[in-house]
Amino acid sequence: MNDDNNSPEVDETDGADAETVEASAPAKDTAKDKGNPILEFRNINTHYGAVHILKDVNLAIYPGEMVCLLGGNASGKSTTLKTLLGMVTPTTGEVVLDGEVVNDKPTSYRVERGITMVPENRRLFKRLSVAENLQLGAYLRNDKAGIQEDLERIYSMFPRVYERLSQKAGTLSGGEQQMVAMGRALMAQPRVLLMDEPSMGLAPTLVQTNFELIEQIHQEGIAIFMVEQNANMALSLADRGWVLQTGRVVLDDTADALLANPDLRKSYLGEA
Ligand SMILES: Nc1ncnc2c1ncn2[C@@H]1O[C@H](COP(=O)(O)OP(=O)(O)OP(=O)(O)O)[C@@H](O)[C@H]1O
Ligand SMILES: [Mg+2]
Repeated sequence: MNDDNNSPEVDETDGADAETVEASAPAKDTAKDKGNPILEFRNINTHYGAVHILKDVNLAIYPGEMVCLLGGNASGKSTTLKTLLGMVTPTTGEVVLDGEVVNDKPTSYRVERGITMVPENRRLFKRLSVAENLQLGAYLRNDKAGIQEDLERIYSMFPRVYERLSQKAGTLSGGEQQMVAMGRALMAQPRVLLMDEPSMGLAPTLVQTNFELIEQIHQEGIAIFMVEQNANMALSLADRGWVLQTGRVVLDDTADALLANPDLRKSYLGEA
């Protein structure tokens, strides 16, 4: 099949980096009572060739929370997710999953332990049916009964997906493809769902619906780590957020504090 690639991905993150925290409001309150992080970055640096992309990034994602990563174009957001999943290897620093350093572990190892990604542009296998795309999300699982149970849960969450099970994924609308991509990611039974710009390319009327679906997944107890350009929408849902600027975390705070930060858009997100 020569469709878009797209295996479930994993990723991970964390880290409150005191040196990079500029906001004064107390951050990370929401994370404190949540036990140990599932995913962490400890002083992560990445390079593409000689180009230094992520610079001493520290992040942490705790069970059940919703956090977002904001940043202007080319600030390193997708690279962060890819590094969490093991698609990009850091030059220095540690990617930590449940306390274990996983720098040398493949993406499949991370997926099996509960980290999955809905990639940028969804990346469905467009020539395969919706049903086949969903099945592929469970490619590391053998529990047939559990797989069937999860499929039914996804059908009830996304009735539109159920109506289109035999349709080729490439013929679906953007909003429908997003639902299939989320369903496929859920088939891996994630504890943390990484999402790379879930509202990108969706008609404006679908953006709100899409965020409602993300919130619904979060309500099931799954932690969400969301990269978004839509800062207001993402922060209105999230507990906490980080802002990346040319590969560095320049803000690390509660979502409320970030929403109230008058400099957020102009100074940090490169907006006019
Ligand atoms: N495979 C690669 N090889 C070389 N450079 C890359 C590669 N992938 C990304 N880059 C560069 O790394 C930088 C960060 O890219 P990244 O995709 O992480 O940014 P981003 O914040 O997700 O951007 P966008 O908002 O456009 O999605 C960019 O300058 C990009 O051109
Ligand atoms: Mg990106």
